[in-house]
Parts: sequence; structure tokens; C-alpha cells
Amino acid sequence: MADVLHVQTAPEPRAEHPALVADDLVITYGAGNAAVSGVSLEVGSGEVVALLGANGAGKTSTLLALAGAKDAASGTVRIDGRATTAPLHRRAREGLALLTEDRCIFGHLTVRENLVLGRGKPADALAHFPELSEHMDRQAGLLSGGQQQMLALGRILAGRPRILLADELSLGLAPLVVKRLLAAVRQAADDGLAVLLVEQHVHLALEIADRVYLMRRGRIAYAGTAAELRANPSLIADLYLEQSR
Ligand SMILES: Nc1ncnc2c1ncn2[C@@H]1O[C@H](COP(=O)(O)OP(=O)(O)O)[C@@H](O)[C@H]1O
Ligand SMILES: [Mg+2]
Repeated sequence: MADVLHVQTAPEPRAEHPALVADDLVITYGAGNAAVSGVSLEVGSGEVVALLGANGAGKTSTLLALAGAKDAASGTVRIDGRATTAPLHRRAREGLALLTEDRCIFGHLTVRENLVLGRGKPADALAHFPELSEHMDRQAGLLSGGQQQMLALGRILAGRPRILLADELSLGLAPLVVKRLLAAVRQAADDGLAVLLVEQHVHLALEIADRVYLMRRGRIAYAGTAAELRANPSLIADLYLEQSR
């Protein structure tokens, strides 16, 4: 991100601090080995940053610590440059949203009721996902998996968070639906959202991401641009293969 030495034109104006920074995070469960052992990363406004890695690499733990849903054993989380140890609900008020694998919707309520219970206006959620408008009076639990995730993501985006942490939002969904969801994420980032995206559909994630961190056994094993990985598909395979060695 800082490597713009050869750019001749004036640089884009940048916020003084990245929206979200993790500095040397260590996360443990019980007395065992650390699940995350010294992760540092940053996500700026307007960026989609993919956090990749095999199962058990520590991606979810990292997201939970960034969101304030899990205490870090050590290390610092900064939002807009300010260190925070606030719990999840307070970080949410500061504009940080966490979307977990379990979709976070109320299955027994209608789509409309789910949207009314969100932080934002239902109309704003429909602006992100117009395809939900014909299902407003259906019980959310009866929607397809993809529609449920559109509802969950639309409801979050309608609340206009400044930072979105998304953990496998495409779990179990067909590639076409995943593309639709990721396109909405990209659009929100283009409108200024800072996104940290954990995604198993690596190639789809790389299509919309600006930068990538790859985790291996609790550490950042690779950091680079998505363009670099798109241009070197074998590098992705190598990085994932090394995980299993
Ligand atoms: N609640 C938990 N209790 C004990 N160990 C956990 C718990 N959650 C995750 N872990 C362990 O922490 C490591 C990282 O897990 P996780 O953050 O879920 O990785 P990922 O999301 O990349 O699959 C794994 O070794 C996992 O077994
Ligand atoms: Mg996970």
C-alpha cells in the first residue's frame, strides 16, 4: 500500500489512520498453543482486504478479536488510530460490523421485520439487494440460503458501518450467489467502507479484493496485492500447499 514511489501524479488524499489496525495480536483458547500468534494487519476505508488461509489457520479468531467478541491475550486493536478494548456492542456503535457464518437473522420473523430491527433503513438494504423486495412478507427462515445472506448483509450495510468484518459469508452458497454478495461488498467499499473478508472461494475473493493477507498456523505467511496473486495463480497453490506441510 505504501509502495507508490514511482507515481508522478499527486497522491489520493488519505485518512491519517487506517480505519482498522491489528498490531501483534495473540489469541489463546485455554492453556494450549496460541490460535493466533502475533498478527498485524490493517484495513483502510474503501479497501477490500481478503484474509485467506486453510481451516484452523486462525482467521475467525482474528476477526472475533478485531470485533471485540474475543479478548486478545496481547496486542492492540486500533479503530481510526485509537486503541480499543471495548466489547462488541460498543465497537458496533463506533461503526464496526461483524457478519459471521451463522447469518445473524431471525428466521421466524419476516424479511421486513428483520430489516426494521436493523440499524438502518429497510429501503437502504433493498437498494443493495433489490431482489429482496418481492419477499418482504415472507418468513426469513423460508428464504434460500443466498437470500438469507443477502438479508443479513443488506441489513448490515443499511446501518452504514465504516468497517465490515465478514467471516465466510458465502458458506454453502453457489458461486453465482457468492459473486452477487461479493459485488455488493465491493460496491460498499467503493462507497468508503473498510472491509476485511474471510472467504474460502479464493478466486472469487481475489476478483474483488485490493489486498490479501494469507494466514498459516496463526501467523501472517504472506501479504500482498490481490493483483499480484491474480497474476500468479501458482503462488496461491504454493501458499496453500505449504500449510499442510
Ligand atoms: N472455541 C475454541 N476453543 C478452542 N480452540 C479453538 C476455538 N476456536 C478455535 N480454536 C482453535 O484455534 C485455531 C484457529 O481456529 P480459527 O480461528 O477458527 O481458524 P479458521 O477460522 O482459520 O479456520 C484452531 O486450531 C482451532 O482449533
Ligand atoms: Mg473460520
